[in-house]
Amino acid sequence: MHIDILTVLPELLESPLSHSIMKRAQEKKLLNVQVHQLRQWAVNEYGQVDDYQYGGGAGMVMMCEPLANAIEALSKNRTYDEIIYMTPDGEKLSQKTANQFSLKNNLLIICGHYKGIDERIRDHFITKEISIGDYVLSGGELPAAILVDSIGRLIPGVLNDETSALFDSFQDGLLSPPVYTRPADFRGWKVPDILLSGDPKKIEEWRHEQSISKTQNKRPDMMEE
Ligand code: ADE
Repeated sequence: MHIDILTVLPELLESPLSHSIMKRAQEKKLLNVQVHQLRQWAVNEYGQVDDYQYGGGAGMVMMCEPLANAIEALSKNRTYDEIIYMTPDGEKLSQKTANQFSLKNNLLIICGHYKGIDERIRDHFITKEISIGDYVLSGGELPAAILVDSIGRLIPGVLNDETSALFDSFQDGLLSPPVYTRPADFRGWKVPDILLSGDPKKIEEWRHEQSISKTQNKRPDMMEE
């Protein structure tokens, strides 16, 4: 999968995408992420990409011209399955959406800043608007990193144990069961006996029951769905 990201702050994306599973996905050539500085398409030599908003009011708006030129230039190299704009007023990111994106070949992600991007870019180029939650961040870079991470780990072959993403919370509409590691007794706090029983069927049943009760307790809204 190829993902292009357009941003005025490429530095913010460096670290999240160059460690751990995202690093491995790129080393294995299963994922190729390229971060592009939007100022390459600035309207003048000062690197301007934003301007005051029509109608007045505080805050700058990212201009049409640099964004349109950048999207068109990048689109010459590949056909994007989706052009995604990270914005708090977008559709809330879910495991379902991450699963759907992980089946695509080419994605372009646009990180907004300031007051956001000119609405005409949303109208004419953007195919998906994604929010990572009902709160406002300073820009779309951290949300973009979260989106890429949520997608990248689902690409077949990225995780060592291919099945492990299948058992993630939300993957089957339930939260994950609790997990334990050594020692079996820490300060008298014991690991449930069943996990030490060596009986895979019973363990699987126990984990499923735990998932259900955990979801009922912590996320009753998910049970209703
Ligand atoms: N940009 C600023 N806040 C955001 C959010 N919550 N989700 C996605 N992009 C954003």
